Amino acid sequence: MSVHPKIYVAGHRGMVGSAIVRQLLAQGHPADRIVTRTHAELDLTNQAAVNAFFAAEKPDQVYLAAAKVGGIHANHTYPVEFIYQNLMMQANVIDTAFRHGVQKLLFLGSSCIYPKLASQPMREDALLTGALESTNEPYAIAKIAGIKLCESYNRQYGASHGVDYRSVMPTNLYGPGDNYHPENSHVIPALIRRFHEAKANHAPSVPIWGTGTPRREFLYVDDMAAASVHVMNLPLSTYSQHTQPMLSHINVGCGHDITIRELAETIARVIGYTGDIAFDPAKPDGTPRKLMDSTRLNALGWQAQAGLEAGLERAYEDFLQNHKQQT
Ligand SMILES: NC(=O)c1ccc[n+]([C@@H]2O[C@H](COP(=O)([O-])OP(=O)(O)OC[C@H]3O[C@@H](n4cnc5c(N)ncnc54)[C@H](OP(=O)(O)O)[C@@H]3O)[C@@H](O)[C@H]2O)c1
Repeated sequence: MSVHPKIYVAGHRGMVGSAIVRQLLAQGHPADRIVTRTHAELDLTNQAAVNAFFAAEKPDQVYLAAAKVGGIHANHTYPVEFIYQNLMMQANVIDTAFRHGVQKLLFLGSSCIYPKLASQPMREDALLTGALESTNEPYAIAKIAGIKLCESYNRQYGASHGVDYRSVMPTNLYGPGDNYHPENSHVIPALIRRFHEAKANHAPSVPIWGTGTPRREFLYVDDMAAASVHVMNLPLSTYSQHTQPMLSHINVGCGHDITIRELAETIARVIGYTGDIAFDPAKPDGTPRKLMDSTRLNALGWQAQAGLEAGLERAYEDFLQNHKQQT
């Protein structure tokens, strides 16, 4: 019998899931002890199919990085997909994992679980203390339910069945495998595409909505993957010392934020765009600041490694190799 657990990475073709597979391999986990299925091969909203998969593969550990993910526009237009699919995927994977004897599972959420007006930086105990941002409320409710599913299995079956299901909540992520869709992408991939096209077309300036003063936090996706493996592998006694049964999730951030102006200037530098950056203060800015408090994770022995500029360089290489043609 192998000394290495058999690990199922759900969502292995996504940005985060693929980084988790890279991280496991880099840490020496054998490729034949990692199990994956594409969405086409296994629809995680289908309970019977998920059950058949677990019965056949019998994984020891699960990283749940599959999710219905999208920007403000998609969340606003398709709220049903964002709440229904995420609830179904989580419920199916978590419950089926339990029924097939999986003791270790890591659930991935997002910083949108915190109230719209949470004090900054946002600590784990801000959860459920206020109203959510309305644009992605259905998605956030599904993610909160995912945390509570994990906690409930731990509370009911931790002692009797050795169940140990943990949750991590990353800040904004970027890196290889990001979504560079021209209309439906997050700020970093959107700016990489725009500055790349402006450079190619010799455009004199790149317009950016707002004043450039809002502050945001960004984490390179391979750092997120390293944090995920770190949290999964912490001894239960250590994890329990730093969490509570009904407040168990762990923020994952780099610990500092930058202005959108600093971000835009850094991306322009990485890409080699030398024209103007034209902020349009007539357009809305959004929340002034969004920063995670990652004290809990830091106390558990993990710190982000990648600097922003180095991370952006790697993201731009990936864009040039794999995503330039994406529409
Ligand atoms: N990206 C970020 O900035 C960010 C920030 C914070 C948290 N997160 C969290 O990290 C997790 C992963 O995000 P990501 O950025 O890696 O997303 P992603 O790139 O869209 O990957 C999600 C993966 O899940 C798969 N999937 C979706 N629905 C499925 C279904 N019904 N059955 C099977 N597979 C399904 C997708 O496959 P298809 O594409 O084939 O559908 C895709 O491979 C999510 O929980 C998200 O909330 C991401």
